[in-house]
Amino acid sequence: MSKKLLLEHEDVSEIQTLSVYQSKAGYKALEKALKMKPEVVLEEVKKSGLRGRGGAGFHTGMKWSFLAKPAGVPRHLICNADESEPGTFKDRYLMERIPHLLIEGMILSSFALGANTSYIYIRGELLYVYHILEKAIEEAYAAGLLGKNILGSGYDLDLYVHPGAGAYICGEETALIESLEGKRGLPRIKPPFPAVFGVWGRPTVVNNVETIAAVVPIMNLGGEVYSKIGIGKSTGTKLISACGHIRNPGVYEIELGLPVEEFIYSEDYCGGIRNGKKLKAVVAGGSSVPILPARLILKTAKGEPRLMSYESLSEGGFQTGTMLGSGGFIVMDEDTSVVKNLWNFTRFYHHESCGQCSPCREGTGWMEKILHKFLDGRATIQDIDLLWDIQGKIEGKTICPLGEAAAWPVASSIRHFRNEFEECVKNPQNIREAIIF
Ligand SMILES: Cc1cc2nc3c(=O)[nH]c(=O)nc-3n(C[C@H](O)[C@H](O)[C@H](O)COP(=O)(O)O)c2cc1C
Ligand code: SF4
Repeated sequence: MSKKLLLEHEDVSEIQTLSVYQSKAGYKALEKALKMKPEVVLEEVKKSGLRGRGGAGFHTGMKWSFLAKPAGVPRHLICNADESEPGTFKDRYLMERIPHLLIEGMILSSFALGANTSYIYIRGELLYVYHILEKAIEEAYAAGLLGKNILGSGYDLDLYVHPGAGAYICGEETALIESLEGKRGLPRIKPPFPAVFGVWGRPTVVNNVETIAAVVPIMNLGGEVYSKIGIGKSTGTKLISACGHIRNPGVYEIELGLPVEEFIYSEDYCGGIRNGKKLKAVVAGGSSVPILPARLILKTAKGEPRLMSYESLSEGGFQTGTMLGSGGFIVMDEDTSVVKNLWNFTRFYHHESCGQCSPCREGTGWMEKILHKFLDGRATIQDIDLLWDIQGKIEGKTICPLGEAAAWPVASSIRHFRNEFEECVKNPQNIREAIIF
């Protein structure tokens, strides 16, 4: 079992309360940081090599250093707790189990960025987690950890939790900002980027829940020590939400660099494929990343063991690789229909498209309709090429990456499982089941 930096106390009774969290050295990182200059805290995050855990894996310290700092203009930190990507449920778990870890991370990160008002934007369906966070924030205010002159340091911070109405697109950072401002959650055209023109038109950083929580162990250990955990440029630990046809579904904290094979088959993690079945395919980083067949998820095309890291999972590009993404690890056994599963994913993206760009609005709908033809025996071989053509006309031609999120699963399913599409055309009565979420 790898070292736990975030979930070490996940099973401690009443760890949701401030007193128990503090009894486990909670808020010690904050005490340490408030004695430093904000620039020093930022430097520690840079040294740690921490990369955004929301999906893209961008360097957090670098992102923070891009934040514009015009004199007299307030700046803001927003925590992205929208988490709606199918297969991804790690942020919900972290907030539900250890809410003060996120709050401590929010205070540390806001301090480093010079923000005095920060927000946690949470997915609307997670109302019970919203209440857990509200309670924890109330406790933090009462203990002088939020509000004016935090722990006598002279630093002030107000923290708000804002529930959205439950739209996947509101996880895209500029749609999130629009929604937080009280408008419809439509992604903005960039530039300007949020670092310059974010919420209320002010410089803003948007980070994922896990990214912000990771600032706590970084400050406890020091950036240098944190950077030695993990492998290469994939430093630290990562939360992986594992689901599908495995024996032990759940949220795991792994040290980056763990072999994928060990993650799937070890009793410490997924425990192997349930009912003694064989592994067929994996979607390693949430529904939008390319699906890989068993042979390419366990080993790279060069024959090297595939590791749970940003670099190893993407080895081979999209021809033979995938992405770590948001860490939503969906495992499919030999009885799964890749085509039916793809229809399920595509239906989701069609439903969630905000409709601003024609390629995404129309293309996701066309792909859903064509995929449905494969399931009810009306598809022809030409429909496989048509699907390929449509996904290629979405990718890179939209305002936000939801277009790619819809296109990549289609492209990778055809690339690696074309024979299954053909089989649906020839013998539609043999279609198997998809993963059901
Ligand atoms: C359609 C769409 C949905 C997204 N949903 C989320 C989400 O639920 N949570 C998240 O952290 N990032 C999500 N992102 C990525 C965010 O736009 C942003 O990159 C991220 O919050 C940055 O945080 P990080 O640097 O800490 O990873 C989404 C992006 C897109 C295009
Ligand atoms: S890509 Fe889709 S979700 Fe994103 S802005 Fe365009 S229509 Fe909206």
